[in-house]
Amino acid sequence: MALMEVLKFPHPILRKKCGKVETIDEEIKKIVRDMAETMYAENGIGLAAPQVGILKQIFVVDVDKELIAVINPEISVSGEKVKMEEGCLCLPKVSVEIERLSKAQVKGLDINGKEILIEAGDLLGRALQHETDHLNGMLIIDHLSKVKRDMVVKKFRKLRLKKKKEE
Ligand code: NI
Repeated sequence: MALMEVLKFPHPILRKKCGKVETIDEEIKKIVRDMAETMYAENGIGLAAPQVGILKQIFVVDVDKELIAVINPEISVSGEKVKMEEGCLCLPKVSVEIERLSKAQVKGLDINGKEILIEAGDLLGRALQHETDHLNGMLIIDHLSKVKRDMVVKKFRKLRLKKKKEE
């Protein structure tokens, strides 16, 4: 297994839409395993393939000591609107309050190509929505108003600049 580099905003790959996985071969299985390893190494609760530069519909999540990998996910959401703070490995040190629906239902394939269905609320429901967003080129800041988004982006760029100077 190997760790992958997590791309940081505003990397253009993070804005692309991912294609479906046609065949779950050894290469795809290795990607899934490496993504899981990378997620744990970065202390994340979710990681989507475009975050490591791969434009395929794959994500991994683990919010409660259970690793879930989904290939070609299809999501539907329901429930009431809930606000919660979210972060993203592509935007280190950024935390924004986002409104999402409380429940998510995700259909897809597991690493063995078996059909899976996940229904979740709370943190897992939110993580499923967050990771599916990534596969459509969407980031947490896109859920904010333009004014708030500009503010967050400006602050983030300053942080990155400062970090680069220190390196
Ligand atoms: Ni993210």
